[in-house]
Amino acid sequence: MLDQARALDAADPLREYRSRFELPEGVIYLDGNSLGALPKATKARLSHVVQREWGSDLIRSWNATENGGDWITAPQRIGAKIAPLVGAQPHEVIACDSVSVNLTKLIGAALTMNAGRTVVLSEPGNFPTDLYMVQGLQARGMAEQRLVARDKMIEALDPKNGGRDVALLMLTHVHYKTGEMFDMAALTKAAHDAGALVLWDLSHSGGAVPVDLNAAGADFAVGCGYKYLNGGPGAPAYAFVAERHHETFRQPITGWMGHAQPFAFSDTYEPAPGVSRMLAGTPPILAMAALECGVELMAEIGMDRLVAKSRALSEFFGAAMAQHCPHMRCVSPADPAQRGSQLSFRHAEAYAICQALIARGVIGDFRDPDILRFGFAPAYVSFADAAGAVTALAEILDSGEWDAPEFRQRAAVT
Ligand SMILES: Cc1ncc(COP(=O)(O)O)c(C=O)c1O
Repeated sequence: MLDQARALDAADPLREYRSRFELPEGVIYLDGNSLGALPKATKARLSHVVQREWGSDLIRSWNATENGGDWITAPQRIGAKIAPLVGAQPHEVIACDSVSVNLTKLIGAALTMNAGRTVVLSEPGNFPTDLYMVQGLQARGMAEQRLVARDKMIEALDPKNGGRDVALLMLTHVHYKTGEMFDMAALTKAAHDAGALVLWDLSHSGGAVPVDLNAAGADFAVGCGYKYLNGGPGAPAYAFVAERHHETFRQPITGWMGHAQPFAFSDTYEPAPGVSRMLAGTPPILAMAALECGVELMAEIGMDRLVAKSRALSEFFGAAMAQHCPHMRCVSPADPAQRGSQLSFRHAEAYAICQALIARGVIGDFRDPDILRFGFAPAYVSFADAAGAVTALAEILDSGEWDAPEFRQRAAVT
């Protein structure tokens, strides 16, 4: 297995990119779907922003300076760099806030645009924050949550089945636990046929799988900066608003940074043109600078190469698991074109097994109640990493090494 992995690494067109990341010796990192690795460029960039732009230029850096600055346009500038990764035009994407906050803004916008309808349709088991955001609006009488199993989604949009009440279809493109991927184009069309708008959560998609928001006709999307975009812990998220809605959409968190003229300090809110009205408060510039480095690296590699490597890696890992760990049941779709850049396995002792792996330097993660999840960040994970992880897992399972009290202690973050 290791020989085959080494041969694949030698032929890998992305092999040089691994050295552009900080990857600790002795660690196999298969959790870039939760927190991307640190690009080396980020360290130098943050040091420049802290020392020169903030330290020397102080508040002048909100405008362009000799040292760079231009902080005020960071949300739009970074959004434009994310756009080609998700099939959007540069002026349709903006980097701001968290996914959670952007969800609330866009659910609120959709409900206003589809007046007379209140239902937000989603699936049970969607990422919790997506559902909690709907529930927050529901508690204020502004929305009604309807959850339907994924294979019944198209039926639920049929007018005969209550589809006429649906204001918004809100789905996560790649499921965080299983990696299952929705057919974005087909569901977007079904929702539009029912008179509903569509909001896609791309948190596990952007930078990992092919996404073409405009080809699918999507209305809105949100996505995460700290996973496959390598923007750093708690990095700002991004939001997409299709150009055709730029004149009409109104989001409810009407902060001063989303005003048409923030520095006119008017008493009355007037939305900025286009996607800029997604802004609320002052952008976190240090976090934005880190996000920009991660995004630039992904943009440099380009989605075609990222997707090809991601699929090759997960196929290699899946085949090795079937051979060496046959008792781990894969719950991700078998076809790499139908799943995210991850493979998930079900095991009653998944938590302890995950901890035993981490003790050996193989970092994947656990998702309650019984999922062991491995993410393949294509920019820096090697085939040798994949082989090493399978070998370690096979040894842990064969020896029963996972069955120790220290591996059953639940930490706050799993
Ligand atoms: C699908 C999905 N949506 C939303 C989030 C949460 O995003 P944020 O912490 O930026 O609100 C996550 C985090 O893992 C996620 O996986």
